[in-house]
Amino acid sequence: MKHFTHLKEHSNEELMGLVDEALELKASPRQDRPLSGKSLAFCFMNPSLRTQVSMEVAASSLGGHAMTLALGTDTWKMEFEDGAVMDGQAAEHLKEAVPVLSRYCQVLALRSFPAGESWAKDKLEPVLSAFRKYATVPVINLESATGHPCQALADLMTIRERMNPRGKNFLLTWAPHIKGLPMAVPNSAAEIAAAAGMNVTIARPEGFDLDPEIMKGVRARCEENGSSLRVTDQVPKAYDGAHVVYAKSWGSIKDYGKPLPSDPAFRAEWMVTPDKMKRTDEAVFMHCLPVRRNLVVQDGVLDGPWSVVVDQAENRLHTAKAVLLKLLSPKTASRRHAR
Ligand code: CP
Repeated sequence: MKHFTHLKEHSNEELMGLVDEALELKASPRQDRPLSGKSLAFCFMNPSLRTQVSMEVAASSLGGHAMTLALGTDTWKMEFEDGAVMDGQAAEHLKEAVPVLSRYCQVLALRSFPAGESWAKDKLEPVLSAFRKYATVPVINLESATGHPCQALADLMTIRERMNPRGKNFLLTWAPHIKGLPMAVPNSAAEIAAAAGMNVTIARPEGFDLDPEIMKGVRARCEENGSSLRVTDQVPKAYDGAHVVYAKSWGSIKDYGKPLPSDPAFRAEWMVTPDKMKRTDEAVFMHCLPVRRNLVVQDGVLDGPWSVVVDQAENRLHTAKAVLLKLLSPKTASRRHAR
């Protein structure tokens, strides 16, 4: 595995193998220090709680030296466009910064959210692409415009702790918010559920379809696994028979960057509630966090028997370790796996 930046670059088997490794690491944490002598730079252009802390703890508990950098704040402000005349705020180009970091560190990781003005531009992920292009060491995506692959591994791990996902019903439901959020999490959640052989239903209001290229990848994985893919605007009916309800707010590609509808009736229609959860087949409720209570999901769900969101967040730690081991110490990871 050269990089871990996009789920589409990894087979179903490879993704399942990473989750196998994470489950094993959770059950019996390693006592050795396979990342001893290795330094890792985790670069953030946006806020984070879970991603930053889980990556740092994962790296240090495996013996590595982790550094979190607020890119452009802790460092010089960075330029990433080819041919830019650098007479503005940016003092350094990624063309130098990324190779320099590669001389110090054995892994680079990046969180870079979309700018939110043009989906056509954002989906090219210029900063992450520059990291991949100029790094001479593995790159990990800590959430970009199109995906959050580390979150997806933790999501699948959380599902697998509760059920054999193959043939089970995964509902990804759009949820209200004060602003149009990136599509990274819903994209990756749908893709990993499809990779695990789940029947995927995406419930969203008209105009909130995921990117067609992402849907193509989700459809291909469902076809490979013989599972179904359905897109609907029928809530609460979409909850019927679900084994997993995964809620996320996201913005519209059609009205990119525009505010979300705030009409109370519309919000009530799409918010996750105990009444909706009662229609499921004893589903678990999942959300990547952070979550806005009583806007995305009612207190009764988060505080009720359905919620697994804290376990889901914990599993970011175990899956982060699995990814780091696969990139930096694949022999020790696979040897454990073969037992
Ligand atoms: N789920 C997730 O990525 O959380 P943070 O934004 O807090 O890292």
